[in-house]
Amino acid sequence: MASDSKKNKNLMEKISDVAARRGIFFPTAEIYGGTAGFYDWGPIGSLLRRKIIETWRNFFVKSEDNVYEIDGSAILPYGVLKASGHVDHFTDPKVECKKCSKVFRADHLIQEAIGRNVERASVEEMSKIIKDEKIKCPKCEGELSDVKPFPLMFSIGIGAEKAQGFLRPETAQNIFTAFKRVFSTMRGTLPFGLAQTGRVYRNEISPRQGVIRLREFTQMEVEFFVDPRQLNNHPRFNEIKDISIRIFSREAQERGKGSDATEGVVDVTAQEAFDRKLVPNQCVAYYLARETLFYTTLGIPREKLRFRYMMPEETPHYSGGNLDLEVELSLGWKEVIGNAYRTDYDLKSHSKASGQDLSVSPLGEGERVIPHVIEPSFGVERATYCVLEHCYREGDRDWAWFQFPPKIAPIEVIVIPLMRKDKLPEKAKEIYGTLKEEGFDTMYDEKGSVGKIYARADEIGIPYAVTIDYKTLEDGTVTIRDRDTVEQVRAKVGELPLTLRKLIEGEIKFKEAGTPQKR
Ligand code: GLY
Repeated sequence: MASDSKKNKNLMEKISDVAARRGIFFPTAEIYGGTAGFYDWGPIGSLLRRKIIETWRNFFVKSEDNVYEIDGSAILPYGVLKASGHVDHFTDPKVECKKCSKVFRADHLIQEAIGRNVERASVEEMSKIIKDEKIKCPKCEGELSDVKPFPLMFSIGIGAEKAQGFLRPETAQNIFTAFKRVFSTMRGTLPFGLAQTGRVYRNEISPRQGVIRLREFTQMEVEFFVDPRQLNNHPRFNEIKDISIRIFSREAQERGKGSDATEGVVDVTAQEAFDRKLVPNQCVAYYLARETLFYTTLGIPREKLRFRYMMPEETPHYSGGNLDLEVELSLGWKEVIGNAYRTDYDLKSHSKASGQDLSVSPLGEGERVIPHVIEPSFGVERATYCVLEHCYREGDRDWAWFQFPPKIAPIEVIVIPLMRKDKLPEKAKEIYGTLKEEGFDTMYDEKGSVGKIYARADEIGIPYAVTIDYKTLEDGTVTIRDRDTVEQVRAKVGELPLTLRKLIEGEIKFKEAGTPQKR
């Protein structure tokens, strides 16, 4: 519930508070003091994550043609990540204090010390800036070392012989190494997509910003394999060509004040983005349109989204062009999807290193090509945090609450007896049982007054509350309260599952769910 001390907190602090208090997320191994970059998800947070993942599966796997899911190992042998380029290129710039030995991420330290964005600078350039600007250790004022690249992968020894392996830094590599087999087992033709959700691991130097920057997080990735001659001929482009997308081009970034500038975003249809060469190819444009629809379905306003074309220096080693979806948060614009045009980089590298021919026949037989790959790579925790920030509401009632879209609300309906007597709890539990059987994510609460229970339900974004009162015992009707408007209708118990399902799916308006009640 809102309190005065809360007013001075920033949005991330407010969300972290409610997250810890209401079982959304909290530091891993909290009773031991936690470790930066690791968070556990509680009952409410797990449900929210699960629904975001399910929405993603519906958008990017189930409703697509020729896209399949795999579920690969999180531990990969050295050879895979050597061939992929991660062993040599996947690093962050590290600097150490010569006096107190504290370690910092160099680009962040420079940004904080002199306000300069040096994300794109080399380690040599950063070392020079630290010397020229006389930047010292922020903890003890000690002298700083030269900047060195720090490997981001967690190295592990496999088995008694401790063969070198890594915790995977992206789910993509399982897909590339499994591609040949799965293409054949599914009797594939191009274009062909493989998707995967799963945990990945990055040994960040000093993660901050809560669940935005983690050492263990969850990706949802699609690798879309295309005949290189068909990159500008996506089979379903027509369906999305009129969807508007917001693009922050390289030219606009150069004209502006760097990657933080908000001016220069153009709002164009997917067709225009392709015609004006604002995207590397038509397949990328297809995904940008689908991602815009996905993120708005999660409740993020369109004007808070932009696709930023990464500058050459910051583009990952495997990519022929990256357009990252960024969402505007209280922390600034944050990347939530990396869209990489990975060309044939990965299949060629793995083909060379493994000695296997990874070419395929686009039509299932005949001539062979090495497919090119479009990769939309989503972070689950960042998506979840964006939903939390953009659905957070305060000021219109005495408590803060979440306006989650009903389809992704962790709990869809709460069941409440008006009083804890006169057989009302028994009736309420019976209705609660029916809703569970019908597959709803539901909750029963009889602790405290109904008003207090409504407030607690709002606080975790439950869209509908069903209250059982004396009239229920007489005529078999209950009240349904709408979280967003706090309006109530009276509806028949027997019709409750169907009515609630229609409300959640957005098939009816709240006032159509029953007889409106005076407040
Ligand atoms: N697969 C892209 C990434 O992990 O960033």
